[in-house]
Amino acid sequence: MQPADDRNPLLDGLRIEPTPSPTALIIFGASGDLTRRKLLPAIYHLSRGQRLPARFTVVGIARTEMTDDQFRQQFHDSLKEFAGVAKPDDVSSALARRLFYVHGEMDDPALYRNLLAKVQACGAPDGMLFYLAIPPEVVGPVADQLATAGLTTAPGADAWRRVIVEKPFGSDLDSARALNQRLHKYLDEPQIFRIDHYLGKETVQNLLVFRFANGMFEPVWNRRYIDHVQITAAETVGVERRAAYYERAGALRDMVQNHLMQVLALVAMEPPIAFSAENVRDRKLDVILSMQPFVNDRDDADHVVRAQYVAGWVNGAPVSGYRQEEGVNPASTTDTYVALRAYLDSWRWAGVPFYLRTGKRLPKRSTEIAIQFRKPPLHIFSRVSPTPIAPNLLIVNVQPDEGISLRFEAKLPGTRMQLAPVMMNFRYGSAFGRAVPEAYETLLLDAMLGDATLFARHDFVEASWALITPVHEAFARAKASEIPTYEAGDWGPHEADALIAADGRRWRTL
Ligand code: BG6
Repeated sequence: MQPADDRNPLLDGLRIEPTPSPTALIIFGASGDLTRRKLLPAIYHLSRGQRLPARFTVVGIARTEMTDDQFRQQFHDSLKEFAGVAKPDDVSSALARRLFYVHGEMDDPALYRNLLAKVQACGAPDGMLFYLAIPPEVVGPVADQLATAGLTTAPGADAWRRVIVEKPFGSDLDSARALNQRLHKYLDEPQIFRIDHYLGKETVQNLLVFRFANGMFEPVWNRRYIDHVQITAAETVGVERRAAYYERAGALRDMVQNHLMQVLALVAMEPPIAFSAENVRDRKLDVILSMQPFVNDRDDADHVVRAQYVAGWVNGAPVSGYRQEEGVNPASTTDTYVALRAYLDSWRWAGVPFYLRTGKRLPKRSTEIAIQFRKPPLHIFSRVSPTPIAPNLLIVNVQPDEGISLRFEAKLPGTRMQLAPVMMNFRYGSAFGRAVPEAYETLLLDAMLGDATLFARHDFVEASWALITPVHEAFARAKASEIPTYEAGDWGPHEADALIAADGRRWRTL
């Protein structure tokens, strides 16, 4: 499908894209996985696309001892491994010269003095963006130190100071609330960018455009026409080398509390009055506040199924069970799969179930939103074409094959009146013929520009934890023997099938 557009595409290059003012990006956790896999490649791509300011510096901070040159080598290595840049090119070489490194203990005031000296030696930038890619319990202490060193206060009208906080933001409602309060001691809310990389995904952003820049979908986007919604985030990977973190988090807190809640909010929100950070986030918050609790009066998790993978086969290769993974407690009760049914108490959605599921070691990597419409009230073709008709289905493929598909019934060619479902497909790759940017590119740039639309606001994060924390507590009370299991390479436990089957529905096969 081609873009339906009669503008001259050559004009595209003439559009003026906003560029941030001179910026120093300071990454806490610079020797970590996120920096190597995502942040450094994102900076490289932004630079290639000429989206970075002319005066731009990166200062990496971590406890590991490293020189500037070693950090620059880490940059080249990470581009090789994660951005397909086999050897340094003009862009990466120029960027490497703007990379610096400071090591030290996060609670040592000397670290912050060294940092300031390094930044000033590179020429005082207008903006300082602190990227806290560190565990949640270290975020508060680092914020304290930044404030004490005077680094959270902008020195003049054109200057700015912002902080990006990586997920997880807290580990339950109390810790998230405490962290918000601590950050608010030094920073105004517009200075705080709580990252949820799902919001930077092109297809997730496109949900807003699809719903609110088209006239024909919004009128049917409600309980009158929609039967139910399924949101799936399936992964083939296991716990990888992240057992230390994942053992404490589990799928519920790793994926549902943040990514899936954000996606659900974008699917279900009312139209904002404008595309601005506050308006969009106000309407998203309404969704979370309207959600029915997942625990009942006896504090049992209702409508929620959790499970853990045991050994099996994924992509034709044998894989071990979660309890046998490196660093995992052999008696672990951590959930690697969660499925749940959510109801929203709103006029638009009353009675429409939203089924959410996510899991590791599932048969396929796929994230999608499937909106199933109601069947037509009457099957007038039933005598000539007795096969039941498939209800209309709108599928937003978040990844990997980004696009949108619509299923509808069509007449099979031939002299007989026979019906069959067909798909109408829009694919980003073929429609626009250009690569979809990585979420971290979009989000880093937005934070440098001060646009918080695609970041989580404090009240959303707390509202989401308010729903998820009691579920986690209910999980924690359950005994190890009670955690259902699924074989790696299967689509989750049969309890999840039973959850949706109880409503006379089935999970989609992806
Ligand atoms: C992260 C989780 O936030 O998202 C990981 O911590 C998960 O466990 C990842 O694998 C999934 O992200 P994506 O972009 O691959 O869907």
